[in-house]
Amino acid sequence: MTVHFIGAGPGAPDLLTLRGRDLIAACPVCLYAGSLVPEAILDHCPADARIINTAPLSLDEIIDEIARAHAAGQDVVRLHSGDLSVWSAMGEQLRRLRALGIPYAIIPGVPAFAAAAATLGQELTLPGVAQSVVLTRTPGRASAMPDGETLANFARTGATLAIHLSIHNLEYVVAELAPCYGDDCPVAIVWRASWPDQKVIRARLDTIVARLDPAMNRTALILVGPALGSADFDDSCLYAIGYDRRFRPQSADSPFAEGDGLADEGGT
Ligand SMILES: C[S@@+](CC[C@H](N)C(=O)[O-])C[C@H]1O[C@@H](n2cnc3c(N)ncnc32)[C@H](O)[C@@H]1O
Repeated sequence: MTVHFIGAGPGAPDLLTLRGRDLIAACPVCLYAGSLVPEAILDHCPADARIINTAPLSLDEIIDEIARAHAAGQDVVRLHSGDLSVWSAMGEQLRRLRALGIPYAIIPGVPAFAAAAATLGQELTLPGVAQSVVLTRTPGRASAMPDGETLANFARTGATLAIHLSIHNLEYVVAELAPCYGDDCPVAIVWRASWPDQKVIRARLDTIVARLDPAMNRTALILVGPALGSADFDDSCLYAIGYDRRFRPQSADSPFAEGDGLADEGGT
């Protein structure tokens, strides 16, 4: 018996891995985080599966459900939105499962920030502009931020910020970021990326609050940083003519010529 934690993606039911889909189809028990996981994904469950929305349950109740399936020898799929590596509450479940000796596996999913970038038609790391993406949030009722993880600190790096769980804090986000990034720094809000009714607002830090549609609440990402508006960036070296690299050695004398074993980072 195994508990399969599956990243169910950002909302579009077909943004699910094949491995995730096949496991959902094979497992007799499905626990899903009903606040964000699209119900259409549940169509992959076997007709007689036990399907439980965990949104109204406590952690103890969720673990009880899993322990019951474990005692019955039934595999479980545990669905969370996006990917499991960020804000999924998987960590606390894994800790309990380890303590109980219940086996688990983790199947990654498409995270919301990647879906939002796709909606924007945007690469978040542009050569010479930004080479880092910070996945972060603002403090919430249930989650304080650790010391040092402030928006202002992240903004000082010039990275592209993907700010989650914070659309209700937009004025705070602007107040924290404008001193570092400047009033004219580009901002994009992507609401329900990949859903049929997805919406996008592009503005600047000093205009975004006025542009926000109050209907765009909860499932929205705020993306901020110079890379969001820049058409003025360098081409990468990856495909540049004359750039010597392992997959395209430029001469027989190249250190990347066959057989020398030298590595190349493979990126831009
Ligand atoms: C609890 S977190 C889950 C993050 C998820 N584990 C991931 O990998 O993206 C929920 C937050 O993710 C963002 N989010 C999730 N799905 C989204 C979507 N389809 N469009 C825009 N933002 C989304 C919002 O900021 C929302 O408040």
